[in-house]
Amino acid sequence: MVRIRELEIRDIEAVSIIEAQSFSMPWSAKDFEQLLTDEKSLYLVAELDGQVVGCCGVTNVCGEGNINNVVVQEAYRGKGVAYAMMQELLARGCEMGCVEFTLEVRVSNAPAIHVYEKLGFVSEGIRPRFYEKPIEDAMIMWIREPVRQ
Ligand SMILES: CC(C)(COP(=O)(O)OP(=O)(O)OC[C@H]1O[C@@H](n2cnc3c(N)ncnc32)[C@H](O)[C@@H]1OP(=O)(O)O)[C@@H](O)C(=O)NCCC(=O)NCCS
Repeated sequence: MVRIRELEIRDIEAVSIIEAQSFSMPWSAKDFEQLLTDEKSLYLVAELDGQVVGCCGVTNVCGEGNINNVVVQEAYRGKGVAYAMMQELLARGCEMGCVEFTLEVRVSNAPAIHVYEKLGFVSEGIRPRFYEKPIEDAMIMWIREPVRQ
């Protein structure tokens, strides 16, 4: 059973390890620590059997919810964890005052794009060579309508 809750200081080590395993340019523990005191940001973690297996976050920039760091530990992928986390993140983002949401994703990242489309995100364009290590285009996705869960 997946439990979604807010990121706490005790989760930072686990979340940093999952980041480092999943991204070529991962956020550090310090990056996550700074978020804990940022009133405009909300980070959620997913727990399975008491173990942190994923995280995702949103920063409210004048009503625009910028979504970052959506990640699930490799062994726990394909079980609906990202979808559950993101549903909660969108609902909580609305409560924080976000009226639309945006994110970037590598154009080759089919599983992530699939999850985002299932949640209602729509591609609005490509940002060429946005990513490094390896260089790749980003798809820019948006939900323009307020999300009602
Ligand atoms: C993207 C990611 C967060 C998804 O996490 P997850 O917990 O496995 O996601 P879910 O289980 O909720 O959903 C995965 C969906 O992708 C689908 N999928 C898997 N591989 C796929 C592929 N190659 N093409 C299309 N869809 C695919 C699954 O069938 C599932 O959809 P369904 O529930 O409709 O059957 C995870 O793969 C991850 O951490 N990747 C590395 C980090 C990353 O790329 N993050 C996104 C940055 S923008």
